[in-house]
Formats: sequence, C-alpha cells, structure tokens
Amino acid sequence: MQISQLSSDVLPQHVAIIMDGNGRWAKARGKPRVFGHKNGVKAVRKTITTAAQLGIQAVTLFAFSSENWRRPEDEVGVLMELFITALSTEAKKLHKNNLRLRVIGDTSRFNSRLQDKIAQTEMLTAQNTGMVVNIAANYGGQWDITQAARQVAERVAAGELTPADITESTLAQYLTMSDLPNVDLLIRTSGECRISNFMLWQLAYAELYFTPTFWPDFNEESLIEAMTWFVNRERRFGCTGEQIKAMMDKR
Ligand code: IPE
Ligand code: IPE
Ligand code: MG
Repeated sequence: MQISQLSSDVLPQHVAIIMDGNGRWAKARGKPRVFGHKNGVKAVRKTITTAAQLGIQAVTLFAFSSENWRRPEDEVGVLMELFITALSTEAKKLHKNNLRLRVIGDTSRFNSRLQDKIAQTEMLTAQNTGMVVNIAANYGGQWDITQAARQVAERVAAGELTPADITESTLAQYLTMSDLPNVDLLIRTSGECRISNFMLWQLAYAELYFTPTFWPDFNEESLIEAMTWFVNRERRFGCTGEQIKAMMDKR
C-alpha cells in the first residue's frame, strides 16, 4: 500500500472520547484527584492538535457528565475553574488554527462567568472552517434525546407536525451536533468498558475502542494507535501506525 493511496477518507470523520482515569492516574502518584484533572488538560491539547493534523472533521470530548455533579463539591469547583482557565488560554490558539469550538450540553447550570467564557469562545471561532471541537459539558445522552423530543413535541403542540410525521430524521434534527456526521469511533480511556450516558443516539454505529491508558497519559501515539485499530477494523487498507504518521507529516 502506497501512502499516496491512503487518504483521510479511511479515517473516522467524527471521533468521540470519554476522557477517563484522571483520578486513578493521580492516585498512582500519591497526588489528589485534581492533579489528574490538571494533567488531563495537556492530553486534551495533544489530542486536538493531532486530530486536526489528521484531518478529522469533528472531535467530541466528554469533559463533564450530567452525573458528575454527584462528585465532592471541591472537585466539581476545581473542574469548573479548570474549564474557565483552559477556555481562556486556548481560545486564541483554537482560533488561530481555524478550529471551531462548541460546548454541548445543558450549560444553564454553570456559573455566569463560565457561561460568558463559553459564549465568547464559541462566537470567536464560529466562522472557522477547520475541525469542530465539541466539549461535552453537563452533557448526558439521555438529556440530549429528551431535549430533542421536547422540541418535537412543541412543534406538534403548535400544530406544525402530527405524531405520524415524526421519523428518526425528525428527532435527529433536534439533537445536539445534528449538523455533524454520527460518531465513527468512540475511544474510552482507563480500561472502563461502558458508555456512561455519553452520546447514545450518535453512537449507534460507532466502533468502540477501549484502552487501559489513563487520560493524562493519552498522547499523539495513543490517538494514532486508536486510528490504526479503527482503520484495520474497517478492513479498508490495513495500514500501519507509521503510514498514518506519514499522512500526518504530509498535511
Ligand atoms: C475523568 O477522570 C474526568 C472526569 C470525569 C471529569 P475521573 O475523574 O473519572 O478519573 P477516575 O475514573 O476516578 O480515575
Ligand atoms: C464519564 O466518566 C464522564 C467523563 C469522562 C466526563 P466517569 O468517570 O464520570 O464515569 P463513571 O462514573 O465511571 O461511569
Ligand atoms: Mg472516571
């Protein structure tokens, strides 16, 4: 297989990642859980850079689930602060690299400082044409389907639709990320093999990749490994990690 015969169309268009294992990574180093979250931000940066180099259309990162409010208040507070800091420091870089940032989830529960930061960053990068970076925050797959169903019900109540008109594509229009292709590849780090209420509808046909690597250790190599697995999974070209790397260098 010549590298020239390989194109980004063998790679997934939309990659979703459940970034898990920050707490255990920190614990293994005798550090508090939040140390793991801080180091997790570095892995986010590496992942976004590598995915953009590979020409992926969209990356969706699970940063905070609707169930994560159940964690100790201190930990939730640190996660919110980290989120604000990361948005502040990364917004310009994302913009410079032509990336579009979107936050997916029920952001109404966040404090106004965070909501403002999210709105600013989304606005700054809205016209960019490169990779879409979705940050799933206070997101739940069940919430997503529920909010879509509510919007459809409102149209029915307004007399614009009848129940018989409702098809899968009607509902799909109201889901978050409706403008993006469904997820081709889901990655979950830390060895857990569950979905944890992440995108449910959009994962319908995704290949599921589980790696024991804790999120803060996830890097360029790890993403390439996952891509290689995906490509082999698809049995399209059976290419190697080296070839994928070479593709990246060419871009
Ligand atoms: C993932 O790491 C980050 C978030 C859920 C915010 P965890 O904090 O879940 O780490 P573990 O699973 O406890 O090791
Ligand atoms: C899923 O991880 C949510 C995020 C990565 C943001 P969790 O660590 O919260 O999931 P469970 O509780 O182990 O299922
Ligand atoms: Mg976890």
